[in-house]
Amino acid sequence: MADKTTDMIPGLELVVAADKNMGIGREGDLPWRFKKDMAFFRETTQDAANPVVIMGRKTWESIPHRFRPLKGRYNVVLTRQSDYQVPPNVGLAHSFDDAVALAKTMGDRYFIIGGGHIYGLALASPDTHIVHLTEVDAEFSCDTFLPALDGFQRVWWDEWIEEGGHRFRFTRWVRP
Ligand SMILES: NC(=O)c1ccc[n+]([C@@H]2O[C@H](COP(=O)([O-])OP(=O)(O)OC[C@H]3O[C@@H](n4cnc5c(N)ncnc54)[C@H](OP(=O)(O)O)[C@@H]3O)[C@@H](O)[C@H]2O)c1
Repeated sequence: MADKTTDMIPGLELVVAADKNMGIGREGDLPWRFKKDMAFFRETTQDAANPVVIMGRKTWESIPHRFRPLKGRYNVVLTRQSDYQVPPNVGLAHSFDDAVALAKTMGDRYFIIGGGHIYGLALASPDTHIVHLTEVDAEFSCDTFLPALDGFQRVWWDEWIEEGGHRFRFTRWVRP
């Protein structure tokens, strides 16, 4: 299905994978490992022009040391801890508004990449127009969830992909 919604005015974009119950995480990690979804995440966030990724401190810490900061993207980490240390080339913000303001000084596309707390803040923001949602057609045991996509409509979806005995598909949701 053709779709042009990513040509919309720059705003905040969520990139998230969720199961049938909107589960997204378990014990500080992803509940699944889907190589094709990780590739989709990389392409969506890294191939954009001057991309910035905004994430919560727990999601930052869930990324193995050797992969962080996520390359080719300016990384912004949200924490309330005033003495939290990040590498010098990584942005630190102590409120959601400050994270977005910093992102806007550092790049041209702004991706919210988790976790549950930060998705919640982003969905409450009128600046969030697009959700890139990988729909995982299964029920995993999760302790972290994506809040409801109130006011969003699914405008694009791809074919189902099978991996590791499960299936998932890439979809895009927009809020006018
Ligand atoms: N399926 C997916 O697509 C996906 C994507 C990303 C993450 N995840 C999963 O989600 C889980 C992590 O999510 P989470 O909700 O537990 O944690 P999170 O959103 O990654 O981080 C939460 C932390 O962000 C900081 N924070 C939250 N609100 C803030 C605010 N208003 N101002 C400043 N800092 C703020 C706090 O850090 P301090 O405690 O340091 O103050 C808080 O503890 C993991 O299991 C991860 O694997 C899934």
